[in-house]
Amino acid sequence: MTKVLITGGAGFIGSNFIRLLCRERDYAVLNLDALTYAGNLESLKDVEGDPKYSFLRADIADAEAVEEVFASAKPDLVVHFAAESHVDRSVLDATAFVRTNVLGTQVLLDASRRHAVRRFVHVSTDEVYGSLGAEGKFSEVSPIRPNSPYSASKAGSDFLVRAAFHTHGFETLITRCSNNYGPYQFPEKLIPLMILNAIEGKELPVYGDGRNVRDWIHVEDHNRAVLRVLEEGRPGEVYNIGGNSERENLEVVNAILEAVGASSDLIRFVKDRPGHDRRYAIDATKIREELGWEPSRGFEEGLAATVEWYRENLSWCERVRSGAYREYYDRQYGDRLS
Ligand code: NAD
Ligand code: DAU
Repeated sequence: MTKVLITGGAGFIGSNFIRLLCRERDYAVLNLDALTYAGNLESLKDVEGDPKYSFLRADIADAEAVEEVFASAKPDLVVHFAAESHVDRSVLDATAFVRTNVLGTQVLLDASRRHAVRRFVHVSTDEVYGSLGAEGKFSEVSPIRPNSPYSASKAGSDFLVRAAFHTHGFETLITRCSNNYGPYQFPEKLIPLMILNAIEGKELPVYGDGRNVRDWIHVEDHNRAVLRVLEEGRPGEVYNIGGNSERENLEVVNAILEAVGASSDLIRFVKDRPGHDRRYAIDATKIREELGWEPSRGFEEGLAATVEWYRENLSWCERVRSGAYREYYDRQYGDRLS
């Protein structure tokens, strides 16, 4: 059975990707995750009993630990999601971003080459392209102009992945996706934060004038694109992934208030994020024409389903916000792992 190693599988997108693989493919799925504040094994409760799935705790920036995992697991394929992913945290302190996103990616590339991994998909972001004005979209040949410490560290990792292909002939591919939303997103990002605050009647903090634009995509559409790239993408290539759903932040916040049935009086305009990128928009022509992928979920429908998911999973949210989810690892794995 082909073995796929997923890094960052306890995070938002990675956990949804593992669920998709277990449901629709016959791969052995190994989840490698350090379980930082953003890693939550409770997001994978439903696949724990699946014999195809296993979890290993390791820090991707720890070369020895990664070597041990690769020597024992011998993966055929790697899909690399693990990262520090929140722009606001990178503004406060970029150290972990450089360590995990830059060093950690190189550690994984080295271990993958040493252990004859066949294919390595690096999950990156549209933020490496920087910011757009009112017109235009990012294509795969747009200049790389990251503006935040987060996006700069992701751009650094993209260059290392590119170099592994060009220098060593190692089969790497890069995806660059726009803003994801959907179930199991840590409630520090715009959509889950606003949903929970609206449900609880708390203030909704909107940065600046609220007119910044993001191109929203449902996490399942993103993951189907990553799977397509893993199985059919051309080595050495970059594929942009987008949702065709550009919205101003205020439009998103108002749609959430409406779906929750809360008042727009809850909106509070707060001090802007330093260096806040104005607009992102993705041209996903390449992946559509080459690999036949297109997003299938409209934003309004996907957002309504997401609001519903958060309403029905308030105990997951509560455990994430209180930090109680961290006890789950010890309870679940404490006597099974050294
Ligand atoms: P997330 O923050 O929800 O999850 C990150 C996961 O990586 C967590 O499980 C965490 O424990 C793990 N991790 C962090 N540091 C680690 C380390 N040193 N070693 C091992 N594991 C570590 O992130 P996400 O939103 O799911 O994003 C996943 C990937 O997709 C990231 O690479 C991100 O840059 C990229 N991406 C995200 C979006 C988005 O909108 N969320 C869009 C495009 C691309
Ligand atoms: O574009 C892809 C990127 O999308 C990913 O690479 C990142 O990992 C992911 O976190 C996301 O980055 P953003 O910075 O765009 O996402 P965030 O949810 O933090 O913010 C979305 C927009 O909402 C942005 O314009 C800032 C604004 N915002 C955010 C928060 C948390 C607010 O106005 N108020 C808030 O409280």
